[in-house]
Amino acid sequence: MSNSAGDCFVVNKNDLHDCQQLPQVLLNEADLKEGEALLAVDRVAFTANNITYAALGSRFKYWDFFPVDAPWGQIPVWGFAEVVASKHPQISTGTRVYGYLPMAPQLKVQAGDLTDNAFTDISSHRSHLALAYNQYQFTDRDPAYRKENEALQMLLRPLLITSFLLDDYLVENNFFDAEQIILTSASSKTALGLAFMLQHQRAKRGKSLTITALTSNSNLEFVRNLGYYDKVVSYDQINELDADQATVSVDFAGNGQVLGEVHKHFAEQLLFSSLVGAAHWDQRGGEKNLPGATPQVFFAPGYWAERAKVLGAAELMTRFAMLWQPLASSVSKWMEVTELAGDQDIKQGYLDTLDGKINPQQGIIMRMQ
Ligand SMILES: NC(=O)c1ccc[n+]([C@@H]2O[C@H](COP(=O)([O-])OP(=O)(O)OC[C@H]3O[C@@H](n4cnc5c(N)ncnc54)[C@H](OP(=O)(O)O)[C@@H]3O)[C@@H](O)[C@H]2O)c1
Repeated sequence: MSNSAGDCFVVNKNDLHDCQQLPQVLLNEADLKEGEALLAVDRVAFTANNITYAALGSRFKYWDFFPVDAPWGQIPVWGFAEVVASKHPQISTGTRVYGYLPMAPQLKVQAGDLTDNAFTDISSHRSHLALAYNQYQFTDRDPAYRKENEALQMLLRPLLITSFLLDDYLVENNFFDAEQIILTSASSKTALGLAFMLQHQRAKRGKSLTITALTSNSNLEFVRNLGYYDKVVSYDQINELDADQATVSVDFAGNGQVLGEVHKHFAEQLLFSSLVGAAHWDQRGGEKNLPGATPQVFFAPGYWAERAKVLGAAELMTRFAMLWQPLASSVSKWMEVTELAGDQDIKQGYLDTLDGKINPQQGIIMRMQ
């Protein structure tokens, strides 16, 4: 079933289960001003990360990228689009780009700040948002781009950049002198990416660090079978972990109860506590003044900017590329990519992701045309 032309998918900002398709007036070249280009959104990826954009949309301004009338909001997604009309002298029709897109058939951008391989949408409503989200890369000038790997790129690249930055941050801080690192929502792609990177570089770093997965009972077997972690336990087995082991927690679940249990169990042996995600978006909150290190929010675009000042963006990308290749090749052996198209399937894919019903082995791609 094909997506009915002109529909964009919106969710109620106050009730994420309330969602619908809204008709979108389709534009053409006559609707563009000088410097503008029209993108036809092709395929996009959808994971728990996009649900987090929605759950934290007001606090972190994710609704500001692609505004629609209240109470609705468009969830940003990573994916590919094609320039179908352009009034910018250096952007030609037919160019394929990768970047941050709405769940809609079209996006009008005001292209500016062209570099060799990207442009920025300099529309005024996006000017207060992080640059990383406003840039669109030309696929034909991206040496890492492969048409056949588009699904892996849109599903993993935005997440694994965060895994990479977390790995770098932990190394820069000598792992806070911990003997163990615990990852919650260990079955999520971002956590799996970090676990892989830690394990892949362990011998080179010469630091023996136990990499421990905390996950749901239903995902234990999947996480164990991957072999990225040294130890895999479920959320109701936290008390069975050795409380004397100096530990760092990296929290992708954002579940108040789970985080509280980790802090109470390890207490002063919890040397660092990083808040990265909210995959358990409806279980947030929890106690304040927990024992152990005070939890700290990790904001990847901010840390990227900080490290780029020290190392240069090119060096960071080179380091990332060295990890991306082995990791993408490992993930491509187990990930099952499912492509959804049509209003009903897209809505169901969204609701299943919202309700945590997607098997972590699956990678969901949505077709917007
Ligand atoms: N701070 C940053 O810059 C940054 C960057 C990238 C990602 N993140 C965050 O990291 C988290 C993981 O994102 P991802 O895209 O990698 O996830 P993903 O691969 O889609 O993760 C799926 C896993 O998340 C858990 N989960 C998802 N929805 C759930 C629900 N409704 N109820 C309970 N558990 C649920 C389950 O893991 P378990 O059973 O193992 O809990 C599930 O297997 C997100 O919150 C994302 O926003 C943050």
